[in-house]
Amino acid sequence: MARIETAFSRLLGITYPIVGAPMFLVSYEDLVVAVSEAGGLGAFPLPNYRTLAALEAALGRIRSRTARPIAVDVHVSGRFPYREQLAICLDHGVRFFFTSLGDPALIVDTVHDSGGLVYTEVISRRQALRAKTKGVDGLVAIGAGAGGHTGDIPLPVLVPDILDATGLPLLAAGGISRGSQLAAALALGADGVLVGTRLVASVEAGVATAYKEAVVAARPEDIVSSTRLTGNSVNWLRASLERVDSAPELASKRWREIWSAGLSVAQADSILPAGEIVRAMAQDCLATLARFPAVPVQGRDEA
Ligand SMILES: Cc1cc2nc3c(=O)[nH]c(=O)nc-3n(C[C@H](O)[C@H](O)[C@H](O)COP(=O)(O)O)c2cc1C
Repeated sequence: MARIETAFSRLLGITYPIVGAPMFLVSYEDLVVAVSEAGGLGAFPLPNYRTLAALEAALGRIRSRTARPIAVDVHVSGRFPYREQLAICLDHGVRFFFTSLGDPALIVDTVHDSGGLVYTEVISRRQALRAKTKGVDGLVAIGAGAGGHTGDIPLPVLVPDILDATGLPLLAAGGISRGSQLAAALALGADGVLVGTRLVASVEAGVATAYKEAVVAARPEDIVSSTRLTGNSVNWLRASLERVDSAPELASKRWREIWSAGLSVAQADSILPAGEIVRAMAQDCLATLARFPAVPVQGRDEA
Protein backbone atom coordinates (compact mmCIF):
# COMPACT_ATOMS: atom_id res chain seq x y z
CA MET A 1 0.00 0.00 0.00
CA ALA A 2 1.14 3.57 -0.70
CA ARG A 3 2.75 5.70 2.00
CA ILE A 4 1.08 8.82 3.34
CA GLU A 5 3.85 11.37 3.32
CA THR A 6 3.87 14.51 5.39
CA ALA A 7 6.78 16.51 6.77
CA PHE A 8 6.24 14.63 10.05
CA SER A 9 6.27 11.15 8.53
CA ARG A 10 9.37 11.99 6.48
CA LEU A 11 11.17 13.39 9.50
CA LEU A 12 10.40 10.28 11.55
CA GLY A 13 10.85 7.80 8.73
CA ILE A 14 7.42 6.26 9.27
CA THR A 15 4.98 5.05 6.60
CA TYR A 16 1.86 6.82 7.92
CA PRO A 17 1.55 9.99 10.01
CA ILE A 18 -0.45 8.09 12.62
CA VAL A 19 0.68 8.06 16.24
CA GLY A 20 -0.64 5.44 18.64
CA ALA A 21 -1.34 7.93 21.42
CA PRO A 22 0.51 7.58 24.72
CA MET A 23 -2.15 6.40 27.20
CA PHE A 24 -1.71 5.96 30.94
CA LEU A 25 -2.22 2.32 31.96
CA VAL A 26 -3.16 1.40 28.36
CA SER A 27 -0.12 1.75 26.07
CA TYR A 28 2.49 -0.86 26.95
CA GLU A 29 4.99 -2.77 24.84
CA ASP A 30 2.52 -4.84 22.79
CA LEU A 31 0.57 -1.80 21.61
CA VAL A 32 3.69 0.27 20.91
CA VAL A 33 5.28 -2.51 18.84
CA ALA A 34 2.05 -3.25 16.94
CA VAL A 35 1.53 0.39 15.91
CA SER A 36 5.15 0.97 14.91
CA GLU A 37 5.37 -2.31 13.00
CA ALA A 38 2.20 -1.35 11.09
CA GLY A 39 3.91 1.83 9.86
CA GLY A 40 2.69 4.31 12.48
CA LEU A 41 4.50 5.63 15.54
CA GLY A 42 3.90 3.64 18.73
CA ALA A 43 4.09 5.66 21.95
CA PHE A 44 3.70 5.20 25.69
CA PRO A 45 3.69 7.55 28.71
CA LEU A 46 6.68 7.12 31.02
CA PRO A 47 4.52 6.96 34.20
CA ASN A 48 3.31 3.54 32.99
CA TYR A 49 6.56 2.23 34.46
CA ARG A 50 6.96 2.95 38.13
CA THR A 51 10.71 2.37 38.37
CA LEU A 52 13.67 3.16 36.15
CA ALA A 53 14.51 -0.54 36.04
CA ALA A 54 10.99 -1.36 34.77
CA LEU A 55 11.30 1.35 32.11
CA GLU A 56 14.68 0.05 31.01
CA ALA A 57 13.37 -3.51 30.78
CA ALA A 58 10.31 -2.42 28.79
CA LEU A 59 12.41 -0.46 26.29
CA GLY A 60 14.74 -3.45 25.96
CA ARG A 61 11.77 -5.69 25.14
CA ILE A 62 10.40 -3.16 22.62
CA ARG A 63 13.80 -2.87 20.97
CA SER A 64 14.08 -6.64 20.66
CA ARG A 65 10.76 -6.66 18.75
CA THR A 66 11.00 -3.60 16.50
CA ALA A 67 13.73 -1.41 15.10
CA ARG A 68 11.18 1.16 13.96
CA PRO A 69 10.82 4.57 15.63
CA ILE A 70 8.82 4.84 18.84
CA ALA A 71 7.91 7.82 21.04
CA VAL A 72 7.34 8.48 24.73
CA ASP A 73 5.37 11.03 26.72
CA VAL A 74 7.50 12.62 29.43
CA HIS A 75 5.82 14.09 32.50
CA VAL A 76 8.08 16.93 33.58
CA SER A 77 5.85 17.72 36.53
CA GLY A 78 8.44 17.09 39.23
CA ARG A 79 6.71 13.87 40.35
CA PHE A 80 8.99 11.68 38.22
CA PRO A 81 12.79 11.46 37.76
CA TYR A 82 12.54 12.82 34.23
CA ARG A 83 16.30 13.33 33.74
CA GLU A 84 17.07 9.66 34.45
CA GLN A 85 14.03 8.53 32.44
CA LEU A 86 15.17 10.66 29.52
CA ALA A 87 18.70 9.24 29.64
CA ILE A 88 17.34 5.67 29.51
CA CYS A 89 15.07 6.52 26.56
CA LEU A 90 17.90 8.20 24.63
CA ASP A 91 20.12 5.17 25.33
CA HIS A 92 17.46 2.98 23.73
CA GLY A 93 17.28 5.10 20.61
CA VAL A 94 14.11 7.04 21.38
CA ARG A 95 14.30 10.37 19.54
CA PHE A 96 10.71 11.61 19.68
CA PHE A 97 9.26 13.00 22.89
CA PHE A 98 5.85 14.33 23.82
CA THR A 99 5.38 16.42 26.93
CA SER A 100 1.97 16.74 28.51
CA LEU A 101 2.52 18.00 32.05
CA GLY A 102 5.15 20.46 33.22
CA ASP A 103 7.74 22.62 31.51
CA PRO A 104 9.09 21.22 28.20
CA ALA A 105 12.12 23.55 28.42
CA LEU A 106 13.50 21.17 31.06
CA ILE A 107 14.14 18.51 28.41
CA VAL A 108 14.48 20.43 25.14
CA ASP A 109 18.25 20.98 25.20
CA THR A 110 19.11 17.41 26.16
CA VAL A 111 16.81 16.02 23.49
CA HIS A 112 18.16 18.39 20.83
CA ASP A 113 21.75 17.51 21.74
CA SER A 114 20.86 13.90 20.89
CA GLY A 115 19.24 14.85 17.60
CA GLY A 116 15.70 14.36 18.90
CA LEU A 117 12.46 16.32 18.80
CA VAL A 118 10.01 17.54 21.45
CA TYR A 119 6.30 18.08 20.75
CA THR A 120 4.14 19.57 23.50
CA GLU A 121 0.42 18.90 23.95
CA VAL A 122 -1.78 22.00 24.07
CA ILE A 123 -5.49 22.77 24.13
CA SER A 124 -5.48 26.46 23.19
CA ARG A 125 -3.66 29.15 21.23
CA ARG A 126 -2.46 30.65 24.52
CA GLN A 127 -0.84 27.37 25.62
CA ALA A 128 0.62 26.94 22.12
CA LEU A 129 2.28 30.35 22.18
CA ARG A 130 3.71 29.64 25.63
CA ALA A 131 5.09 26.29 24.43
CA LYS A 132 6.72 27.98 21.47
CA THR A 133 8.74 30.21 23.82
CA LYS A 134 10.12 27.01 25.40
CA GLY A 135 11.84 25.99 22.17
CA VAL A 136 9.71 22.96 21.31
CA ASP A 137 9.84 21.56 17.76
CA GLY A 138 6.13 21.02 17.34
CA LEU A 139 2.78 20.79 19.05
CA VAL A 140 -0.10 18.41 19.54
CA ALA A 141 -3.47 20.17 19.36
CA ILE A 142 -5.87 18.34 21.66
CA GLY A 143 -9.37 19.16 20.53
CA ALA A 144 -12.81 18.69 22.03
CA GLY A 145 -13.93 15.12 22.60
CA ALA A 146 -10.46 13.60 23.10
CA GLY A 147 -9.94 10.67 25.43
CA GLY A 148 -7.90 11.40 28.55
CA HIS A 149 -7.35 15.07 29.41
CA THR A 150 -9.44 16.79 26.80
CA GLY A 151 -9.59 20.19 25.21
CA ASP A 152 -12.88 21.90 24.49
CA ILE A 153 -12.23 23.61 21.17
CA PRO A 154 -13.17 21.52 18.11
CA LEU A 155 -10.18 20.64 15.90
CA PRO A 156 -11.46 22.46 12.78
CA VAL A 157 -11.16 25.67 14.80
CA LEU A 158 -8.18 24.84 16.98
CA VAL A 159 -5.75 23.54 14.31
CA PRO A 160 -5.83 26.61 12.01
CA ASP A 161 -5.81 28.93 15.04
CA ILE A 162 -2.64 27.37 16.45
CA LEU A 163 -0.98 27.16 13.02
CA ASP A 164 -1.68 30.84 12.38
CA ALA A 165 -0.34 31.80 15.79
CA THR A 166 2.80 29.66 15.94
CA GLY A 167 3.72 28.32 12.50
CA LEU A 168 5.01 25.21 14.31
CA PRO A 169 4.46 21.70 12.94
CA LEU A 170 1.26 20.35 14.43
CA LEU A 171 -0.33 16.98 15.10
CA ALA A 172 -4.07 16.78 15.76
CA ALA A 173 -5.67 14.68 18.50
CA GLY A 174 -9.23 14.13 19.58
CA GLY A 175 -11.96 12.14 17.87
CA ILE A 176 -9.75 10.80 15.09
CA SER A 177 -9.80 7.11 14.25
CA ARG A 178 -10.91 6.80 10.62
CA GLY A 179 -8.90 7.63 7.53
CA SER A 180 -11.45 10.24 6.48
CA GLN A 181 -10.80 12.00 9.80
CA LEU A 182 -7.04 11.78 9.20
CA ALA A 183 -7.58 13.28 5.74
CA ALA A 184 -9.65 16.06 7.32
CA ALA A 185 -6.86 16.78 9.82
CA LEU A 186 -4.33 16.95 6.97
CA ALA A 187 -6.68 19.30 5.10
CA LEU A 188 -6.72 21.56 8.16
CA GLY A 189 -2.93 21.77 8.02
CA ALA A 190 -1.96 19.15 10.59
CA ASP A 191 1.06 17.00 9.81
CA GLY A 192 -0.36 13.88 11.42
CA VAL A 193 -2.69 12.62 14.12
CA LEU A 194 -2.76 10.86 17.48
CA VAL A 195 -5.24 8.01 17.91
CA GLY A 196 -6.16 7.14 21.47
CA THR A 197 -9.68 5.91 22.20
CA ARG A 198 -9.90 3.67 19.12
CA LEU A 199 -6.76 1.84 20.24
CA VAL A 200 -8.17 1.21 23.74
CA ALA A 201 -10.41 -1.24 21.89
CA SER A 202 -7.45 -3.06 20.34
CA VAL A 203 -6.21 -6.56 21.07
CA GLU A 204 -2.87 -5.20 22.33
CA ALA A 205 -4.18 -2.49 24.70
CA GLY A 206 -3.04 -3.37 28.23
CA VAL A 207 -6.48 -3.06 29.85
CA ALA A 208 -9.28 -5.36 31.04
CA THR A 209 -11.44 -6.84 28.30
CA ALA A 210 -14.47 -5.25 30.02
CA TYR A 211 -12.96 -1.79 29.38
CA LYS A 212 -12.41 -2.58 25.69
CA GLU A 213 -15.98 -3.91 25.44
CA ALA A 214 -17.33 -0.78 27.16
CA VAL A 215 -15.56 1.39 24.55
CA VAL A 216 -17.09 -0.68 21.75
CA ALA A 217 -20.56 -0.54 23.33
CA ALA A 218 -20.48 3.21 24.05
CA ARG A 219 -21.95 5.94 21.90
CA PRO A 220 -20.66 9.54 21.94
CA GLU A 221 -23.58 10.50 24.18
CA ASP A 222 -22.22 8.07 26.79
CA ILE A 223 -19.06 10.17 27.20
CA VAL A 224 -18.99 12.80 29.91
CA SER A 225 -16.36 15.44 30.54
CA SER A 226 -15.64 16.05 34.21
CA THR A 227 -13.04 17.78 36.35
CA ARG A 228 -14.21 15.76 39.35
CA LEU A 229 -11.47 13.14 39.60
CA THR A 230 -8.30 14.95 38.54
CA GLY A 231 -9.11 18.67 38.73
CA ASN A 232 -8.75 18.94 34.93
CA SER A 233 -11.30 18.12 32.25
CA VAL A 234 -11.14 14.44 31.42
CA ASN A 235 -13.56 12.51 29.20
CA TRP A 236 -14.91 9.42 30.97
CA LEU A 237 -17.30 6.65 30.09
CA ARG A 238 -20.38 7.94 31.93
CA ALA A 239 -21.41 4.60 33.48
CA SER A 240 -17.88 4.11 34.74
CA LEU A 241 -17.73 7.57 36.33
CA GLU A 242 -21.12 7.06 37.97
CA ARG A 243 -19.73 4.08 39.87
CA VAL A 244 -17.92 6.61 42.08
CA ASP A 245 -21.32 7.81 43.38
CA SER A 246 -21.96 4.50 45.14
CA ALA A 247 -18.30 3.58 45.77
CA PRO A 248 -16.33 6.82 46.45
CA GLU A 249 -13.13 4.82 47.14
CA LEU A 250 -12.96 4.11 43.40
CA ALA A 251 -12.07 7.77 42.80
CA SER A 252 -8.50 6.98 43.76
CA LYS A 253 -8.47 4.20 41.14
CA ARG A 254 -9.30 6.53 38.27
CA TRP A 255 -7.82 5.37 34.93
CA ARG A 256 -7.60 1.79 36.29
CA GLU A 257 -11.17 1.26 37.55
CA ILE A 258 -12.81 4.41 36.23
CA TRP A 259 -12.38 4.40 32.49
CA SER A 260 -11.56 7.24 30.15
CA ALA A 261 -12.59 7.42 26.49
CA GLY A 262 -13.40 10.12 23.96
CA LEU A 263 -16.12 10.72 21.42
CA SER A 264 -14.49 8.45 18.86
CA VAL A 265 -16.12 5.53 20.65
CA ALA A 266 -18.50 6.24 17.75
CA GLN A 267 -16.06 4.56 15.38
CA ALA A 268 -14.85 1.80 17.71
CA ASP A 269 -17.15 -0.99 16.65
CA SER A 270 -15.06 -4.05 17.46
CA ILE A 271 -11.87 -5.09 19.22
CA LEU A 272 -9.24 -5.43 16.49
CA PRO A 273 -5.47 -5.88 16.31
CA ALA A 274 -3.86 -2.41 16.50
CA GLY A 275 -1.93 -2.99 13.27
CA GLU A 276 -5.19 -3.64 11.46
CA ILE A 277 -6.67 -0.41 12.85
CA VAL A 278 -3.65 1.60 11.66
CA ARG A 279 -3.56 0.01 8.21
CA ALA A 280 -7.33 0.37 7.69
CA MET A 281 -7.07 4.00 8.68
CA ALA A 282 -4.27 4.60 6.17
CA GLN A 283 -6.19 2.84 3.41
CA ASP A 284 -9.35 4.82 4.16
CA CYS A 285 -7.33 8.06 4.16
CA LEU A 286 -5.83 7.29 0.76
CA ALA A 287 -9.29 6.42 -0.60
CA THR A 288 -10.68 9.67 0.80
CA LEU A 289 -7.88 11.73 -0.74
CA ALA A 290 -8.28 9.94 -4.08
CA ARG A 291 -11.92 11.02 -4.21
CA PHE A 292 -11.12 14.73 -4.11
CA PRO A 293 -9.93 15.38 -7.67
CA ALA A 294 -13.28 14.01 -8.75
CA VAL A 295 -15.32 16.44 -6.63
CA PRO A 296 -17.13 18.70 -9.09
CA VAL A 297 -16.45 22.32 -8.19
CA GLN A 298 -18.57 24.78 -10.09
CA GLY A 299 -16.49 27.52 -11.63
CA ARG A 300 -13.18 25.71 -10.98
CA ASP A 301 -12.09 26.18 -14.58
CA GLU A 302 -13.13 29.82 -14.74
CA ALA A 303 -11.19 30.86 -11.63
C1 LIG B 1 -7.18 6.10 28.77
C2 LIG B 1 -6.37 7.25 28.25
C3 LIG B 1 -5.19 7.60 28.88
C4 LIG B 1 -4.42 8.66 28.39
N1 LIG B 1 -3.24 8.96 29.01
C5 LIG B 1 -2.44 9.92 28.49
C6 LIG B 1 -1.15 10.15 29.03
O1 LIG B 1 -0.70 9.53 29.99
N2 LIG B 1 -0.39 11.12 28.46
C7 LIG B 1 -0.81 11.83 27.38
O2 LIG B 1 -0.08 12.68 26.90
N3 LIG B 1 -2.04 11.65 26.85
C8 LIG B 1 -2.86 10.69 27.36
N4 LIG B 1 -4.06 10.42 26.78
C9 LIG B 1 -4.50 11.23 25.61
C10 LIG B 1 -4.01 10.59 24.31
O3 LIG B 1 -2.61 10.63 24.25
C11 LIG B 1 -4.59 11.29 23.08
O4 LIG B 1 -4.25 12.65 23.05
C12 LIG B 1 -6.10 11.19 22.97
O5 LIG B 1 -6.53 9.92 23.37
C13 LIG B 1 -6.55 11.46 21.55
O6 LIG B 1 -7.93 11.54 21.45
P1 LIG B 1 -8.87 10.26 21.11
O7 LIG B 1 -8.93 9.48 22.38
O8 LIG B 1 -10.16 10.91 20.78
O9 LIG B 1 -8.25 9.51 20.00
C14 LIG B 1 -4.86 9.38 27.26
C15 LIG B 1 -6.05 8.99 26.62
C16 LIG B 1 -6.79 7.94 27.07
C17 LIG B 1 -8.05 7.52 26.35
